[in-house]
Amino acid sequence: MKHSDIAAPLLRWYDAHARVLPWRVSPAERAAGVMPDPYRVWMSEIMLQQTTVAAVKSYFERFTALWPCVTDLANAEDDEVMGEWAGLGYYARARNLLKCARVIRDSYDGHFPQTRAELQSLPGIGPYTSAAIASIAFNQPETVVDGNVERVVSRLFRIETPLPGAKPELTKLAETLTPQDRAGDYAQAMMDLGATICTPKSPDCAPCPLTDSCAAHVVGDAARFPHKTPK
Ligand code: ADE
Repeated sequence: MKHSDIAAPLLRWYDAHARVLPWRVSPAERAAGVMPDPYRVWMSEIMLQQTTVAAVKSYFERFTALWPCVTDLANAEDDEVMGEWAGLGYYARARNLLKCARVIRDSYDGHFPQTRAELQSLPGIGPYTSAAIASIAFNQPETVVDGNVERVVSRLFRIETPLPGAKPELTKLAETLTPQDRAGDYAQAMMDLGATICTPKSPDCAPCPLTDSCAAHVVGDAARFPHKTPK
């Protein structure tokens, strides 16, 4: 497989099939090159850290309606923000959300920094979230690796090493596939492919844009990947 065979068909598929989600720009805006608001990208990624897309949607809508920009959130009362977070769980995320908003207000003039290193110095932002914000909000060619991406890559290359030991190998391979252009769309295309087509139990390979390059599809055993070390 040529690594360059992945990004182009995946982005073409994303242009036609991207999920419409409240933190994304509309398909028409995306076609016109409009970038999403970093504040909304950050908020969604923090909420999505331990919570499903379906559960996050209404919280995201409510938070961004109450506090449309990071300075509004920074100026909010702690109790109000914690109250709105009720039901999402993992409350350290909400405390860090407020801390981070106040650092952006006080030390960054209300603007999110754009590099992965600076983003990762902020409260609540680790390696995954820094890569997600840098790529999705700023188009930096950073590689976002979550469970979806691990599954897609393990199938593309038929990686026999079981998880979690395979993580470094899968991350390296994922990095080799990340394009220099449209890194944010590419990251979200990988997530959408993993969530809607390259699913854990019965991958739906017929409509997949990557079958020509997928080693597991060629052998016919995509559902066997990723291997996992027995618990
Ligand atoms: N999960 C984490 N980040 C996401 C995003 N930007 N879109 C869809 N699912 C996600």
